[in-house]
Amino acid sequence: MVSGNTRVCCLIGDPVAHSLSPLVHNAGYQALGIDFIYVSFQARDIKPAIEAIRGLGIRGASITVPHKITAMPYLDHVDDEAREIGAVNTVVNNNGVLTGYNSDGTGARQALEEVTTLAGKKAVLIGSGGGAVAIAAALKKSGTRLVILNRTVEKARHLAKMVNADDFGDLDKLTAVSSADILINATQVGMWPGVSESVIPRELLHQRLTVFDIVYNPRETRLLTEAKEKGCPVVYGYRMLLYQAARQFELFTGHQAPLPVMEHALIEALG
Ligand SMILES: NC(=O)c1ccc[n+]([C@@H]2O[C@H](COP(=O)([O-])OP(=O)(O)OC[C@H]3O[C@@H](n4cnc5c(N)ncnc54)[C@H](OP(=O)(O)O)[C@@H]3O)[C@@H](O)[C@H]2O)c1
Repeated sequence: MVSGNTRVCCLIGDPVAHSLSPLVHNAGYQALGIDFIYVSFQARDIKPAIEAIRGLGIRGASITVPHKITAMPYLDHVDDEAREIGAVNTVVNNNGVLTGYNSDGTGARQALEEVTTLAGKKAVLIGSGGGAVAIAAALKKSGTRLVILNRTVEKARHLAKMVNADDFGDLDKLTAVSSADILINATQVGMWPGVSESVIPRELLHQRLTVFDIVYNPRETRLLTEAKEKGCPVVYGYRMLLYQAARQFELFTGHQAPLPVMEHALIEALG
């Protein structure tokens, strides 16, 4: 029950209607019986939205597209990981002092570590957008040898320089996968409604390759279906979503996130 003491957390972005964050966070609050509620705010301008966090005493906010970078100047502090990535997806309000974090990299690392170790492994990361930046930084920190490939090679070059990756290129270099241990799709290729697409030809997949698709809608993309058929260990995009939400939950509430409950809510919503 919502009361005068209920702590409010929220999602700020544009659009927000499709987001699964309210479902996942509220399922966690209910499971722990804590007096929190999570709501969505569609905000075109980020400055007044950040001021509202402070002004209304909102405890925490998830920040999504298109505000992950533009929110940063309005915060009091940004933690090292978010600063390195150059984007925040989480804001915590401690008595009017706002601190920004980025839980995407941690979420991706935890999802991958469920099926493979990272140190010393060779990873090919396809994509250089928002998701890819957080993953690239997390992988380099974990001691992975990293090759970044992107349709627009300039963006791959820029990201490779930023995180000190081992190599970069355009999608003509996809054959680099033959000597890789890990393949990550961080593009939207395969996302609904383009579900018949895959970012990499099936022939390039091999049994030693752990395949991670950060696309989570559909839950099993064409890339993951083909990887499973080839006998590759696979990592679902929804696992990254789950772990990044769990980190936010812990930052907002100070309680350990009830992972099974949050996972159940996510899977029910994704179908
Ligand atoms: N699982 C999670 O927790 C999680 C977190 C973040 C994002 N995601 C998902 O990851 C996907 C990407 O999100 P984002 O925020 O990183 O997007 P973004 O910043 O817009 O970046 C999109 C990336 O995809 C590439 N791309 C787009 N269309 C392509 C195509 N037809 N062929 C090859 N490459 C293509 C772009 O290449 P160019 O640079 O050449 O345009 C760019 O590298 C979305 O499906 C999103 O839902 C999942």
